[in-house]
Amino acid sequence: MTDNSDDQSSSTSQASLRIDVLTTFPELFADREGCVLATSIPARARRAGVAEYHATDIRSFATGKHQKTDDRPFGGGPGMVMLCQPLWDAVQAVEAADPRPATRILLTPQGVPLTQAMVEELAKKPRLLLISGHYEGIDERVIDKLAPLEISIGDYVLSGGEVAALVLIDAIVRLLPGALGHEESAAEDSFSPTAPDSKGRGGGERLLDCPHYTRPREWMGVEVPPVLMSGDHAAVDRWRLEQRRERTAKRRPDLLKKNPTQN
Ligand code: ADE
Repeated sequence: MTDNSDDQSSSTSQASLRIDVLTTFPELFADREGCVLATSIPARARRAGVAEYHATDIRSFATGKHQKTDDRPFGGGPGMVMLCQPLWDAVQAVEAADPRPATRILLTPQGVPLTQAMVEELAKKPRLLLISGHYEGIDERVIDKLAPLEISIGDYVLSGGEVAALVLIDAIVRLLPGALGHEESAAEDSFSPTAPDSKGRGGGERLLDCPHYTRPREWMGVEVPPVLMSGDHAAVDRWRLEQRRERTAKRRPDLLKKNPTQN
């Protein structure tokens, strides 16, 4: 890493995915107890050596006495706009720190809405460079020159891209082989494509998850669905798929329109 970087990686060998974050709040990405990337699956991915995280403070590339990273917008209006130069220099320095080619991503409400299919594609890359703006916006000229993928995590506005970057990192690293324990599987998640049936038919539908139950068998007078106690694994699989389709039709009919034809 560069001297300007707040290197938060603890692994020495190369992970299958390197994630760099450019931010004015690098502490949000720290490998410290209570921080998101030091907790649960993102921490396990780091420990397993499948993901490495490096946060770099854009401010350390700011020039001038006050190390300014933003200024008032030309044309007037509220808020501040991130300057071109510190961000441009930060990207050049961070990319030069590792030969793996980086996919540049800008987190912004103006971006394409994030989907599980995009997350799956990003999880196959060797390196991601996430840019989190924390102002009214970023000078459009540096966005044009950097030409990042622009990604939104939803149609609402956050105070900055950092929380969005953490959401994206979490969604990606849980798909890396070795990040989840044996007992967990990302293949069963909501939005993950369903598997073909035992005869190799169908599959590929992106559905919401089915309901889940655990002990006790009866709680407040409500029994667990009997099929789950039947020991018939094929019947359980059929029931779960039906539940997923029903739930998706009721709650997210928009998803069904995007799915391949059901068998
Ligand atoms: N920054 C602010 N709001 C955002 C959003 N909805 N998605 C991604 N980045 C953001």
